[in-house]
Amino acid sequence: SKYLKGVQYLVEKGVKQIPDAYIQPPHPRVNITKFECSNEVPVIDLAGLRDDGRRSEVVAEIKNASERWGFFQVINHGVPVPVIERMMDVSRRFHELPTEEKMMYHVADPSEFLSRTHRFQTIFNAEKQTVLEWRDSLDQECYPPPDDDKWLKNPIDYRDAAMDYSGEVRKLAKLLLAFMSEGLNLSSENLEKCLGDEFKQTFLINHYPPCPNPELVLGVNSHSDPSALTVLLQDEIGGLQVFHEGNWFDVKPLANAFVINVGDEVEVLSNGIYKSVAHRAIRRIGDSARISIPTFCLPSMEAKIGPIAELTKTNPPLYKEHLFSEVVSHFRSEYYDGKSCLDNFK
Ligand code: SIN
Ligand code: FE2
Repeated sequence: SKYLKGVQYLVEKGVKQIPDAYIQPPHPRVNITKFECSNEVPVIDLAGLRDDGRRSEVVAEIKNASERWGFFQVINHGVPVPVIERMMDVSRRFHELPTEEKMMYHVADPSEFLSRTHRFQTIFNAEKQTVLEWRDSLDQECYPPPDDDKWLKNPIDYRDAAMDYSGEVRKLAKLLLAFMSEGLNLSSENLEKCLGDEFKQTFLINHYPPCPNPELVLGVNSHSDPSALTVLLQDEIGGLQVFHEGNWFDVKPLANAFVINVGDEVEVLSNGIYKSVAHRAIRRIGDSARISIPTFCLPSMEAKIGPIAELTKTNPPLYKEHLFSEVVSHFRSEYYDGKSCLDNFK
């Protein structure tokens, strides 16, 4: 495709009208002028967890949000603000690099995806994707940490920022998995153990440049995450929307908060109690460039994922047991706009 260099490249060339390849069919288009619904996605305060009472309160809030929305935000989560700010800063500087430099990290052959620790991409699936998205991304493996010589050389402080950030996010993810486990009346370790010895961790640095025709595009098409759990950092611009009871709801940016969402594999493990919900990212008139950084907590490839036995006593299993590697191959070979990868395992 002639668009492999990404949307930032088009913007730098001074594009006044988006190319047809980016124009969405009318149905998923959005009213971009106003926030469509008030901010009702739950916000959960993790402060004061050492008090006995607070822990059970937080577990109940997380359980409720995971059942009803599949999405919530956390504040007072313990990840230091300087670690967050530095991650945002290197992320922005990466996407501001010259196109030729970013293209050195582009991997053309999908069969090579899994052997790379990082990859610059703007088109998710060239064969299956009929409309392109107004987004460039850097896909980065961060746990287990890549060898020292396998990191980007530029920005110079990228590796340190990304490693510190990933370590902090990992602690938070473990805490959230423990709470989610308790919310299912399971032992704290149960959910995390189901992901294999040490769950894998990757992140995407999404960059959405200003768009001359925001009403015609999507930054990211509607999808659910094939992860176990996703921990997303976003800047102050906004555009993330969650599908809930027939409507799209904005996830209002809160400074230094994390947006947490249940991934497909936790939906399976919880036997459908926790929901992996469709979401998308839109662009609005006047938006400057937006950064979002979702971290994906992933089972190991050989982990067997199916509904946890204790949760199938009263309700029959809703999903077939599968290897996580099967999810990866489905996800790589399809483009899941609107559909769910989970349909393969029902
Ligand atoms: C995604 O879900 O892939 C990105 C969402 C966002 O940019 O907020
Ligand atoms: Fe997502």
